[in-house]
Amino acid sequence: MKLCSRTMAYCYAILLRLCLLYSIFSSPNLSTASIQQDPSSSDEAIISRFQQYLQINTAQPSPQYYQAADFILSQAKSLSLESQSIEFVKTKPVILLKWAGSDPSLPSILLNSHTDVVPAEHDKWAHHPFSAHLDSDGNVYARGSQDMKCVGMQYLEAIRRLKASGFQPLRSVYLSFVPDEEIGGHDGAEKLAQSDVFEKLNVGIVLDEGLASPDENYRAFYAERSPWWLVIKAIGAPGHGAKLYDNTAMENLLKSIESVRRFRASQFDLVKAGLKAQGEVVSVNMVFLKAGTPSPTGFVMNLQPSEAEAGFDIRIPPTADSESLERRIAEEWAPASRNMTFRLGQFKQKVSVLDKYGRPVLTATDSSNPWWNLLEEAVKKANGKLGKPEIFPASTDARYFRDLGLPAIGFSPMANTPILLHDHNEFLNKAEYLKGIEVYESIIKAYASYSEHSISGDSKDEL
Ligand SMILES: *[C@@H]1O[C@H](CO)[C@@H](O)[C@H](O)[C@H]1NC(C)=O
Ligand SMILES: *[C@@H]1O[C@H](CO)[C@@H](O)[C@H](O)[C@H]1NC(C)=O
Ligand SMILES: [Zn+2]
Repeated sequence: MKLCSRTMAYCYAILLRLCLLYSIFSSPNLSTASIQQDPSSSDEAIISRFQQYLQINTAQPSPQYYQAADFILSQAKSLSLESQSIEFVKTKPVILLKWAGSDPSLPSILLNSHTDVVPAEHDKWAHHPFSAHLDSDGNVYARGSQDMKCVGMQYLEAIRRLKASGFQPLRSVYLSFVPDEEIGGHDGAEKLAQSDVFEKLNVGIVLDEGLASPDENYRAFYAERSPWWLVIKAIGAPGHGAKLYDNTAMENLLKSIESVRRFRASQFDLVKAGLKAQGEVVSVNMVFLKAGTPSPTGFVMNLQPSEAEAGFDIRIPPTADSESLERRIAEEWAPASRNMTFRLGQFKQKVSVLDKYGRPVLTATDSSNPWWNLLEEAVKKANGKLGKPEIFPASTDARYFRDLGLPAIGFSPMANTPILLHDHNEFLNKAEYLKGIEVYESIIKAYASYSEHSISGDSKDEL
């Protein structure tokens, strides 16, 4: 099978070369022929640029941001894009690129991506995570190949193609390459979104990251769950380990844990029954338990301690009733009547499910949002399929833009690809990567050509 298709491919390649030769000699316009031959637009050159970006080690906790910045700026230069590097926080550059549109009065398009990646355990990988090894199946192995250096480079490659085709944007297209997403984005996208620089961009729509899809449908995300980090604490009279008595700290905490466990099961059951997606339910996971009286050999075994604590990572979709959850925490999980207290957001993590206008933080995915319709059509035009829009199960930088009331869609065009972000042996297939460039070409073209001024539903004027 393989041999056969290789022979076919070989013949096809020869045929193509003959055609090209013919077109060079027969074309009255030699410069057109030379554009088709432009070595920078070959698949090899495109993959090589992707590999170069992947080979820059931008893993937390010490990402090589300046190397990444130099690379992106050199790409911008080769594309004649305007560029600037802004350090809202020293040593953490935000790179902002601009492809100027012909009508600066129209709100612009922002294509966002983060430059950092999570660390990798080198010895658990088949290929070095920063080698960007291309194997014989066309898979490019690297930390960041899915999350999300692919997207950053695909934006640039799509613009390269649009420029070569002579396309002129009506709206300005901005690209932001931001640091620190993997550690919360506070010194990156959050600072950018709150800056005067950002306000001047007059952004109308933001595209940011999504997730790979194991099936043929691309995934798009219109919201994400807000993290609430909860610590509950019980106190009770200490006593001998042999004595049975009521209201010990341990007993009181266990009652709460049992109550949390029941709630968790009720949410998980909705997912298991196929009634809701992971992103649509409230998830609660116990992440620590802290109790006991330490001794040199471990813990004192004949003493019931007077304090006990547990920590939970809670994730809440914007569609959930957050007030009722807060009541549940106060009345069932940490009731004062059981001598319990709780702290929410002690680690700066109690993110509101409402934006700055008091509306649920989500981007409409119906006809009230023209950007959604344009995306759907553009993906279809590029022969891609889009699945049902989803709520992102974890957090991304998109929330900082949605908090401003802006529509933001999380989208990483990777179909037929296992979800390997933050996993060992993260890879993306070359063909999927190239296909994604075509999809972005179609989206950017549609967005940058969109001429309507008022945007119903998400209009900032309404507020
Ligand atoms: C030849 O190609 C150049 C560059 O793309 C273009 O500007 C020009 O209009 C073309 N001329 C003809 C006759 O097609
Ligand atoms: C709460 O603490 C008080 C004072 O230590 C104690 O008298 C009471 O029994 C405790 N109640 C419960 C439910 O633990
Ligand atoms: Zn990411």
